Amino acid sequence: KSIPTRTICGHEYEMDSMTNITPAIASRLSHKLLSQPSSPLALLWRRIQRHFDSRHPGVFDFLRHDDPIVPVQQNFDELLIPASHPSRSPNDSYYLNRKMMLRTHMTAHEREVMATGRKSFFLVGDVYRRDQIDCSHMPVFHQLEGVCIFSPDELLSREAEYSHLVGEIEKAIGSQVLQVEHDPKIVKLALADLYVTLHGLMKTLFGENSRIRWQETFFPFTRPSTEAEVFYDNRWLEVFGSGILQRQVLHPSVLERDPNAIAWAFGMGLERVAMVLHGINDIRLFWSQDDRFISQFSSQKEDSEPIKFVPFSKYPPICRDISFYLPTTRDFQPNELYEIIRDVAPDLVEAVTLADEYHDTKINRMSMCYRIVYRSMEKTLTDTLVNNLQSELRARVTRQLQQSHHM
Ligand code: PHE
Repeated sequence: KSIPTRTICGHEYEMDSMTNITPAIASRLSHKLLSQPSSPLALLWRRIQRHFDSRHPGVFDFLRHDDPIVPVQQNFDELLIPASHPSRSPNDSYYLNRKMMLRTHMTAHEREVMATGRKSFFLVGDVYRRDQIDCSHMPVFHQLEGVCIFSPDELLSREAEYSHLVGEIEKAIGSQVLQVEHDPKIVKLALADLYVTLHGLMKTLFGENSRIRWQETFFPFTRPSTEAEVFYDNRWLEVFGSGILQRQVLHPSVLERDPNAIAWAFGMGLERVAMVLHGINDIRLFWSQDDRFISQFSSQKEDSEPIKFVPFSKYPPICRDISFYLPTTRDFQPNELYEIIRDVAPDLVEAVTLADEYHDTKINRMSMCYRIVYRSMEKTLTDTLVNNLQSELRARVTRQLQQSHHM
């Protein structure tokens, strides 16, 4: 019996019980927003490059990784993400099969870049996560990853420069236990360098007066781990996940060259920052080919204030409810529903919310009712079209809920 395969980006992959990539997601892989010159994401990436290049000419390498298909090993195992971690579940990530997946973060590429001998680099690309449907979540978004590797001596030479940051650094570390191989003094200097780097970038993006603050957090691949938030528009926005990379995560060649090497790393979502900078109110707009969107950014001048997006009137929404009983033989994850919706009506659904749930005592089953807001960025939807989508959706949901496993 031949094994079923699926072709994605010109490669053929064997399907297995982990396969959950839908045609709607596969079709995103060929759209490279970062290579569209007036996409706000490409503008932001260029801004970031100019920022670092003007402050530290020639120090950083700027890389774009366009192929999001990576071995599961590389996205998770090499980064010490345990088998039980929720992000590994096919409910949260997209698998081509049990060996290959769509990367969930750009951290997946750090080691291969380190292997080339680079010490300080920035990396951008598209990443994929199964998630809820609303105006700030898409199953695909873009991340900037930054890495900087130091020898202890390099850091010690900046001790005086960083001495005023002691308080901030203590906050970032909190109660976390440092890696045993690390000298606490060197760790603090590396964190101070990370702080200065992130704060500098935020000042360029959000203005000279912007403030950042650190919170302790947890990532399997960094210790200590910290989260940086920036104060903007009267609220704190989570912008960076960061920390000191675990020694086992460094590519072996790094420690061969310098057994005492230490590295900071951070990850930042580009959409999140671009939405705030430009006042873009719906994440789906990044994917819009609507001239009323694209044309607003084509006149963005290098180094000038980010253009404020002027929202154009949206096309009218159409709401529909879908109700169904939950399966009795297995659990149900809302992501299953969102994924079917994305597949049936790519880019046509703006929001999905739970409208009602109740226990039907007569038959002893849970009944769910979700409200779906259909709206196109490009045209007025007709009732006929939405009715067709809705009946296709009903059929797919019914079929799926009869299956014993979730996809
Ligand atoms: N990869 C993490 C995420 O996607 C962010 C991160 C990068 C955290 C590097 C620490 C170091 O959330």
